[in-house]
Amino acid sequence: MTKIRADTVGCEGVLHFNNAGSSLPPHQVVDAMVDYLRAEEVTGGYEIAAARATDLNAVYDASARYLNCEPGEIAFAVSAGDGWWRAFSSIPLGVGDRILVGHSEYQANAFGWLQAREQGVVVEVVPNNPAGDFDVEVFEAMLDERVKLVSLTMVAMTNGAIHPAAEVGRILKASGSEAVYLLDACQAAGQLRLDVQELGCDFLNYTGRKFMRGPRGTGVLFARGDVHAKLGHSGFVDGRSAQWTTADSFRYAPDAKRFEFGEFGYGGKVGLGVATNYMLAVGIDAIAERVALLSGLLRFGLSAIPNVAVLDTGTHKSGIVTFDVGGMTASDVQAALQTQGINVSTPGVMLAQLELGPRSIDAVVRAGVHYFNTEEEVARFCEVVAELR
Ligand SMILES: Cc1ncc(COP(=O)(O)O)c(C=O)c1O
Repeated sequence: MTKIRADTVGCEGVLHFNNAGSSLPPHQVVDAMVDYLRAEEVTGGYEIAAARATDLNAVYDASARYLNCEPGEIAFAVSAGDGWWRAFSSIPLGVGDRILVGHSEYQANAFGWLQAREQGVVVEVVPNNPAGDFDVEVFEAMLDERVKLVSLTMVAMTNGAIHPAAEVGRILKASGSEAVYLLDACQAAGQLRLDVQELGCDFLNYTGRKFMRGPRGTGVLFARGDVHAKLGHSGFVDGRSAQWTTADSFRYAPDAKRFEFGEFGYGGKVGLGVATNYMLAVGIDAIAERVALLSGLLRFGLSAIPNVAVLDTGTHKSGIVTFDVGGMTASDVQAALQTQGINVSTPGVMLAQLELGPRSIDAVVRAGVHYFNTEEEVARFCEVVAELR
């Protein structure tokens, strides 16, 4: 823990509970990026990319180790939304086809299926059960051959519930459904074990900057090797995704590279590789255990404060803890905490209409704890919240 804190330079200055927004990277991530940018400065972008191919490719190997897949099934993306949209836009959908979605979908995903609805695709929301979990029994009953896409967000960004993503994969497999299973693991990656063989998803996307502790402007899309047979034309193709083979024809890259573009911040890609390897070295099971411990302590501490309501739902809870302070707006709470050197975020209903709309919640205060946080920080956080009124 001492080394992890020392590696996390930001711990010295802030109490950072905004890991579900954007975490603090270990200094190794920043050092690798700065080093790469300096090398670009003096050597030339193309030349250094060729010379540092191993550093640039680290993200494929490390992500594949994390997700238990082949490096060729990994595409580098510049955000979770970027990866999600590249996957989504390659799924052929026609009038009358059905998309089943969960309650915890993020706005960018919703824009995708709402656009599809304008083209005659039927979008249906699978209800949560009374505990707040994606209801797998109702889901199973809703399946038929017209379902072409299942779009599920594994960890809810506005209440922290962990939905039963692997169970969804098992049900899809057992039913013989041909639907594409697109799993948004944006808030899960970096705090939970993600094994795409167990999850049974065709696609899985996440961002680099949240619990992965990578740089901004980075992300990962897993695309299962055999999913290409179910797909159409993504609509986003450049010289990385395809080859212009003759004047009249082109050929997609044979693997997940077909979802990539060739231009992005190369330093960021190096940084995400370093962040992923750092996470693997700490160990994802140890991370998950510590995040569960700290978030449990935080929920317990906040629940004991009069006038504070913990808003989390779901049987299995993640490192995301959401709450409300009576008589204060979420942004007032955030601002007050910031004056004490404490970072949180305040996701609102426009990011998660299906989660917050029915509960008539405008915004929640969200504390996302990570393994580099400490029990003392949790205690101090609760003390400061208790004094807010
Ligand atoms: C569940 C979920 N999916 C997707 C996203 C979008 O991530 P990005 O901004 O990297 O596209 C977020 C961001 O908060 C999220 O919480």
